[in-house]
Order: sequence, then structure tokens, then C-alpha cells
Amino acid sequence: MKVERKPLPLVCPNPVILVTTQDKKKNRANIITLTLVGGICWNPPIIGIGIGVNQYSKGLVEHFKEFVVNIPSAEMIKDVEFCGLVSGREIDKFANTGFTPVSSTKVKPPMIKECLMNLECKVIKSIPLGSNILFLGEVVCLHVDESILDNKGGINLEEANPIMFNLTNSYWRIGGKIAAYGFSQSKESLID
Ligand SMILES: Cc1cc2nc3c(=O)[nH]c(=O)nc-3n(C[C@H](O)[C@H](O)[C@H](O)COP(=O)(O)O)c2cc1C
Repeated sequence: MKVERKPLPLVCPNPVILVTTQDKKKNRANIITLTLVGGICWNPPIIGIGIGVNQYSKGLVEHFKEFVVNIPSAEMIKDVEFCGLVSGREIDKFANTGFTPVSSTKVKPPMIKECLMNLECKVIKSIPLGSNILFLGEVVCLHVDESILDNKGGINLEEANPIMFNLTNSYWRIGGKIAAYGFSQSKESLID
């Protein structure tokens, strides 16, 4: 038997990412922790992020129409939560965490050096949805640390050690691999 619960955007689990933006007036970058995020189109490669309408970061994304998605690892959890509990309106989050800004290739906001994957994005559309605005960002550059590449050049999720969130109260890491994609039909990749 199943019971009904308050509707939530729970995809069980949601990823936890760090989005970097640039503040022109303060002349510094900011970091926001987000769990409302997903890849939603292969070609062009598009990511959707849901930022609260009152968040400081929301105005920063709107200003430059650019952001970087940085994928943190489990051992960064303390700084990840810090960036999700304090606002960059008052505090320079780079100066108050172990995160280091490094220049991006194609957008103004910096990447976080310590994160093993960084996705530079340009906003192609924003859609107000209620409490949050959906920003659709085209991935214009994807950086992957060599340390998490397998011998075929694929990204090894286990090495990336990403953080998951159950959307209500706790952080998790991923477990082990279940099977290779297409194992039941001898297919090798979801995309070409
Ligand atoms: C695990 C976690 C997930 C979060 N997910 C979101 C989210 O998806 N959207 C959002 O607007 N805020 C989210 N937040 C809250 C923001 O990170 C938080 O309000 C932050 O302080 C805003 O930073 P800013 O004021 O510098 O923009 C999350 C916080 C945590 C800890």
C-alpha cells in the first residue's frame, strides 16, 4: 500500500551542485548551493536550474546571463552547506571557504578549482514558475579533471564522488555501479 504525501519535486535523489555567478558592483564572484537542477537536452546541451525569486544569486544570473555549474565531491560537504546557508549579499563566500576561483574560458563567472567538473553555461531562456525561476543554460564548455577519467576517456562517477540530497533533510553519496548502459541489448551509449 502507498500513502500520499505533500507534492514535492523529488526525483530521489536530487544532485547537489554549486553555481558560480559574478557581481559587477561588488567586483566579486558568488557561490550558491542548488539541488533544483537537471540536464534536460542533449543537443544543444542544456541544463535547467531553479533559483528562488528572492535569492541574491538570481539577480547575478540575470545580469550577465551566464553561470557555471560546479560539481562538488562528498568531502567538500561543509563548504557546500555553508554556501547554501549564508548569502553572498553580506559575505564573500570564496574568502570564507576552501574554494578557489579560477577564470572560465567562455563566461565571466569563475569556476571553482577544487570541483572536478565545471560546466560553463549561457542563459538561453528564463521562466518564472512561482517560488523559483527556471534558468535554462546552454553548456558552452565542459571541464573535467583528468583524475576522474577512465581509460576510455569516460567520466568515472565513483571518483567524482558527487553529493545527493533527498530534498527534505539529508545528504548522501552514490553507491556502486549496477550495470553498463544497454547491457540487455548490446548498446554502448545513450548518445552518439
Ligand atoms: C542542499 C541545499 C540545496 C539548495 N537548493 C536550492 C535550490 O535549488 N534553489 C535555491 O534557490 N536555493 C537553494 N538552496 C538555498 C540557497 O543555497 C541559499 O539560500 C543560499 O544562501 C543563497 O545564496 P545567495 O544569497 O548568495 O544567492 C539550497 C541550500 C542547500 C543547503
